[in-house]
Amino acid sequence: MDGKTKLCGLIGNPVEHTKSPLIHKTIANRMEHNLDYAPFLVQEGELEIAIKGAHALNVWGLNVTVPYKSEVIKYLREIDSYAKRIGAVNTLVRMENGYKGYNTDYEGLYRAMRSEDIDIQGKDVILLGAGGSARAIAHMCAKYKAKRLFICNRNLHKAQEIKDSIDDGVRDNEYSEIEVYVVSMKDCADISTEKSIAIQATSVGLYPNVDEVVVSTPQFYEKLEAAVDIIYAPSETLFMKHAKAAGANTMNGIKMLIFQAIVAYELINQCSVNEEIVQELVRIIE
Ligand code: ATR
Repeated sequence: MDGKTKLCGLIGNPVEHTKSPLIHKTIANRMEHNLDYAPFLVQEGELEIAIKGAHALNVWGLNVTVPYKSEVIKYLREIDSYAKRIGAVNTLVRMENGYKGYNTDYEGLYRAMRSEDIDIQGKDVILLGAGGSARAIAHMCAKYKAKRLFICNRNLHKAQEIKDSIDDGVRDNEYSEIEVYVVSMKDCADISTEKSIAIQATSVGLYPNVDEVVVSTPQFYEKLEAAVDIIYAPSETLFMKHAKAAGANTMNGIKMLIFQAIVAYELINQCSVNEEIVQELVRIIE
């Protein structure tokens, strides 16, 4: 570091296990940017002062993780329209009088899927889960023109809330027409579709519970063209194993993690990152 180093960082709680410093510093090295990146542990009740302090200390950009992705919105100067609809922000870009908030999770997953030749445009997507990650992914499906979206969850109320937020986006002409259905998780194998793309966005199957899977019915997997799990530890989940055995293309969440960081880096530094770095980042992180 020297007097001209731009300092970026991550705010959240906890932050000890984050891969963000490694990813951002690797990109900065490759881009020959004088930039450093630090994890900042922010205690409950101290988010506002943390954001104001970061701005006062000339912190160049921030990522935001659990549990502050929604709460941070009220401390922003501006918010991107998609992040506002999703109701969660994971990237803060410095402006003169504060930060502008973005959500790079949905764009990260979209670019990760495109890099594996998985395209949701005009396709049926079965989304498993209705938590914070699923919400961003559902909006990705609307933005990038999936034909039908089936949101499957145990708690139907949460799935319905996501459907309502997408229907609002259609009404406001932010999204073109998309049919959204709410489905109980136990009925997800009965969805009538062929060659669909399933995106697994629950926490089921996450290390150390590697023998768990959210759907075990074989018919569910037979209909899939591609199956995406946003989990990256383990690198092949039981969900992916079932899908692969049924002949679907599979991918895990490592590239989503990398691309959400790349999109954040691009927004914070107003640049374009060459995607050749992705393979290097996959090697470093795995
Ligand atoms: P994240 O921010 O990672 O999305 P989250 O908001 O806590 O995490 O959401 C977790 C998701 O995993 C939810 O969809 C949750 O389902 P419910 O809303 O019905 O609780 C889902 N999930 C967690 N454990 C599950 C289980 N054993 N079976 C089915 N779904 C599960």
